[in-house]
Amino acid sequence: MATTGITHTVTLIPGDGIGPEITRAMQTVIAASGADINWEIQQAGEASFEMSGELLPQAVLDSIRSNKVALKGPLTTPVGHGFRSLNVTLRKELDLFSCIRPSQSFHGTGARYEDVDIVLFRENTEDLYAGIEFEQGSEGVRRIAEVVADLGAGDIRDDAGLSLKPISVFGTRRIMKAAMDYAVANGRKKVTIIHKANIMKHTDGLFLRVCREVAAEYAQSAPEIEVDDWIVDAACTRLVTNPELFDVLVCPNLFGDIVSDLCAGLVGGLGIAPGANIGDDFALFEPVHGSAPSYAGQNLANPTAIMLSAVMMLRHLGEQNAAERVHKAIAEVIAEGKVLTYDLMRMRYGTTDGASSTQEYADAIAERIVG
Ligand code: NAI
Repeated sequence: MATTGITHTVTLIPGDGIGPEITRAMQTVIAASGADINWEIQQAGEASFEMSGELLPQAVLDSIRSNKVALKGPLTTPVGHGFRSLNVTLRKELDLFSCIRPSQSFHGTGARYEDVDIVLFRENTEDLYAGIEFEQGSEGVRRIAEVVADLGAGDIRDDAGLSLKPISVFGTRRIMKAAMDYAVANGRKKVTIIHKANIMKHTDGLFLRVCREVAAEYAQSAPEIEVDDWIVDAACTRLVTNPELFDVLVCPNLFGDIVSDLCAGLVGGLGIAPGANIGDDFALFEPVHGSAPSYAGQNLANPTAIMLSAVMMLRHLGEQNAAERVHKAIAEVIAEGKVLTYDLMRMRYGTTDGASSTQEYADAIAERIVG
């Protein structure tokens, strides 16, 4: 098998809920690809909290910092005060500023569209997701309301809560550059900036202006890449009616979160939506979906999203050949339509009768790769 022959040590966080079973299924398939991956297993989330009282032990961050590349299953964020999302924490700690979410059709899913090929770049560190929030009734709200009133910028009601929306030139430049570099390297035709600049002039307006400035810097070296922009609400309608109009999208954090789920829906849902969080120094690959606790431990969940996240990881590691073979085998098994997890079965045939388990589906893909 044509692999690089290099052993890659990768931090693997199986995660919570369906995490461990989809992770095992993913490992079966990656082992069949011939890529030499030395998985360094680390626990975070509920499993780790029960053992050590820590949701994100320092050892996990140390392992990722040392290996530079990680793959993770979903992590449950316990509901309640004081628990910040682990995913947001990981992205901030490792400065994984670029969240890449491809939505590509697989023939035979029974999804609404068969010809979607969209790659969304979501800024991962700023915007309303920055976590700068003030509780209703707090000193923070009172003082900010005073400043806003003093500046004549508006009234904030006494009983309001506040989330701040910082969007910087620095943060915008690097996400737009990442999207443009990806478009050039992957022979893409168009990059579309998604925003609400008509209303939020100093945040989304800045995002649009800076993205356009970055695009202008590529005009000489990459004249083949068209850059346009859409207001987010109009873009959502257009994505649903004419997804073929879109190619690479670049979004501020919150719109990126929402629009990427919309794009996942176009091609068949969360079960097949992969993702990557990339910074200058580290890369963390993960499915878009959560821990789906009601399916945990039943060997039913669809492992395609984490397998496709592992395909993105293989490409990142330079294992193109192994990546393409895994991708092709997944596409073939879905197209054949015999061995499918319950969600794929329901989408294609309208019933879950005859659905395969998580591991049976993985075994069918692994056989296809080696056979
Ligand atoms: P979820 O994505 O876990 O589940 C929503 C629904 O999507 C499930 O009921 C199931 O029907 C379906 N689904 C998701 N993944 C599937 C798969 N692989 N195969 C088949 N069906 C699948 O979202 P939910 O219920 O909002 O969140 C549950 C937990 O996951 C929460 O604690 C949340 O914080 C966490 N979460 C973690 C994420 C991460 O680690 N990146 C992302 C999103 C949520």
